[in-house]
Amino acid sequence: VLREVAGAVVGREPDTIALITHPRLLAWYGRPVVDALASAGLKATVVTVPPGERSKSLASAGRVLAELASGGFTRGGVILALGGGVIGDLAGFAAAVYHRGARFMQIPTTLLAQVDASVGGKVGVDLKAGKNLVGAFLQPLAVFADTETLATLPRRHLRNGVAEALKHGFILRAGFVDRLLQSRRRVEARDASVLAELVAESVEMKAQVVAEDERDLSGSRARLNFGHTVGHAIEAALGYRKLLHGEAVSIGMVAEARVASRLGLCPRHVPEVVERALEEYSLPVTLPPDLGPEQLVRLMRADKKTEGGKLSMALPREVGSAELVKGLEPDVVRQVLREMSRHA
Ligand SMILES: NC(=O)c1ccc[n+]([C@@H]2O[C@H](COP(=O)([O-])OP(=O)(O)OC[C@H]3O[C@@H](n4cnc5c(N)ncnc54)[C@H](O)[C@@H]3O)[C@@H](O)[C@H]2O)c1
Ligand SMILES: [Zn+2]
Repeated sequence: VLREVAGAVVGREPDTIALITHPRLLAWYGRPVVDALASAGLKATVVTVPPGERSKSLASAGRVLAELASGGFTRGGVILALGGGVIGDLAGFAAAVYHRGARFMQIPTTLLAQVDASVGGKVGVDLKAGKNLVGAFLQPLAVFADTETLATLPRRHLRNGVAEALKHGFILRAGFVDRLLQSRRRVEARDASVLAELVAESVEMKAQVVAEDERDLSGSRARLNFGHTVGHAIEAALGYRKLLHGEAVSIGMVAEARVASRLGLCPRHVPEVVERALEEYSLPVTLPPDLGPEQLVRLMRADKKTEGGKLSMALPREVGSAELVKGLEPDVVRQVLREMSRHA
């Protein structure tokens, strides 16, 4: 798949090209793309940022934009985002605002980015106040997901991506959850063809939801946020360290499924199925000991999706179905989190 990138870029007849990535990924996967572009007579401006969620910031976006400008990148150019969700969100954001909008393509190299982050056109950066608080909608021209790049991905990051893939199953298709559990060994062994099937099905599910509600207005797309109201609060409380995004979402999905069950919105087996599936992939399902329910609820109330002190969550109705529920009393959430920290 990586070999197809240069040809696809050339086909778009860009004036200039920029590649945004991390140093290691440049060495492993970026160079061949840059070289192939050079053979086609196109010189790419390469911009690297350090790995880690902290590169998804306004400061880092500022540095990237300055380097694009000094590298002579033009409005008619194409930005290539080579990396995980951090690079995709950051480079996409840079594309959205550079000269009021350049074009971009995604080359996701983490499982999380392949199954989720590279699809749907949400780009942006975090503020200290919370994740993804600044951003835009910008659909990439194309997404090139090469599952062979996952061979170098650390095991923990592989599982991190499985969390978002499982999420798609939990909210949209119970059969997908079963398939993921049945193929666990081959997924963990990085079987490129099993991974390609998993990525394709996950993308198909997400793309359908996005197509129904691209701008996140009707509540349909908000279903993709299952686990994220609690998950984002956990990430913010930990200062975006210690837990990966998918790990925080994993704990969040268990918490939110329990909230749904407690409110009688789903049968009691739903939180059990969610928890067991995540545990199969060694994903965390209990609150880290140093996080208090009070602190998390406070952070949830500060989130951009709260209204009048009440919380909004995408809650499961069954395994494979979910809906956005607004006006939730923080108390129910507090009780569930208390229960989850006792079990930790
Ligand atoms: N835009 C969206 O719709 C959307 C959806 C889900 C998540 N996200 C965002 O995605 C981000 C998380 O993305 P992530 O989990 O991909 O993390 P990440 O981008 O930080 O990548 C994880 C780590 O893996 C390294 N890496 C990447 N590819 C590699 C490879 N092939 N081999 C070895 N190492 C590799 C990276 O350098 C980094 O250190 C979060 O900021 C989250 O908010 C966005
Ligand atoms: Zn997510």
